[in-house]
Amino acid sequence: MSLNIAIDGPVGAGKSSISDAVAARLGILHLDTGAMYRALGLTALRRGIDVGDEKKITELCEALQFGVKYGQNGQRTLVEGEDVTGLIRTPEVSMAASTVSRYADVRRRMVRLQQELAAQTDMVLDGRDICTTVLPNATAKIYLTASAEERARRRYKEMAEKGMPDTYEQVLEDLKKRDEQDMNRPVEPLRKAEDAVEVDSTGLSFDETVETILRIVEAKAK
Ligand code: DC
Repeated sequence: MSLNIAIDGPVGAGKSSISDAVAARLGILHLDTGAMYRALGLTALRRGIDVGDEKKITELCEALQFGVKYGQNGQRTLVEGEDVTGLIRTPEVSMAASTVSRYADVRRRMVRLQQELAAQTDMVLDGRDICTTVLPNATAKIYLTASAEERARRRYKEMAEKGMPDTYEQVLEDLKKRDEQDMNRPVEPLRKAEDAVEVDSTGLSFDETVETILRIVEAKAK
């Protein structure tokens, strides 16, 4: 039986780094699905295409070749063969990714690509609609969250370490705006799947969160 683990949650819940650690402990790959929406958002910004224009963004999405590959530092995200991994973490790209992810045909294409990747090998997938749409039959489903203030504090620290100039207040405001957009979009909004186990990491360390998820996976995989 293949092992597919689904992790959803709001902005800055630590999904990506926690998923990386969970996948490493299980000796399987991790697919960061947000990176694919980010790659589309980045390409739109670079080409001067209005991210609010559903028709143009849908056409762009259909025309682009998305890919992922795995190296020593984990997932690399590719668009048209170009490795854009280092370019997709800015606040502008975050917001553009959230906006382009609202469109039904964009989601349809991304979901299909993600399902094809997950079918090839054992994987942890993280995103917003993994439990509900991408992997409805996942081995284990987790809804990873934390208070907005705690998520903003972690994100602010991470950005400050990378030399990005945003203030804590700005980070908190952006995070709430993006959550609001992701949770209220008409197609596949972020919500906790009924059969997902909620893990609130507000009072937990990174390692404690990883251990908690591994225990859930172990129980479900039995
Ligand atoms: O996880 P992230 O912050 O890198 O995701 C960027 C945006 O992409 C997020 O604001 C919403 C969208 N997204 C989505 O709609 N579905 C996913 N499975 C992953 C991300």
